[in-house]
Amino acid sequence: MRIALASDHAGFALKEKIKTYLEENGYSYHDFGTFSQEPVDYPDLAYLAASAVQKGEYDRGILVCGTGIGVCIAANKLRGIRAAHCGESYSARCSREHNDANILTLGSRVTGAGLALEIVRVFLETPFEGGRHSLRLEKIQKLEEALS
Ligand code: RB5
Repeated sequence: MRIALASDHAGFALKEKIKTYLEENGYSYHDFGTFSQEPVDYPDLAYLAASAVQKGEYDRGILVCGTGIGVCIAANKLRGIRAAHCGESYSARCSREHNDANILTLGSRVTGAGLALEIVRVFLETPFEGGRHSLRLEKIQKLEEALS
């Protein structure tokens, strides 16, 4: 599984911890930045990773900002992106089983590193359930088509 990673300055430290987790668990990833705690604008970083997922270059994305909300809003502007902001692992599991979420967003100022890494684990290991949920995703796709 190929993973696209990005954060703003607020999420930089947690992104580094996520990279260590991915390396230790054999995942392949690309870090789209940011690479320091110098202030940057979260939509720019969210766009870099989310557009790579949208193009199919990566299977999943993980985005981090202070709350996880800004990067989630930005990523969900891209057609085909289903970004889920998760602060606990139940939502992470359902985001995969029910919503086939392709991007996880985390808030580094809200969620501690231990819980964040558990959320990452669940998000990456949980498959989409399909079935009745597929029809609902088709309806979301139709909404995207209607709005374009
Ligand atoms: C940066 O200060 C902060 O606004 C950003 O990380 C994020 O929380 C936005 O949603």
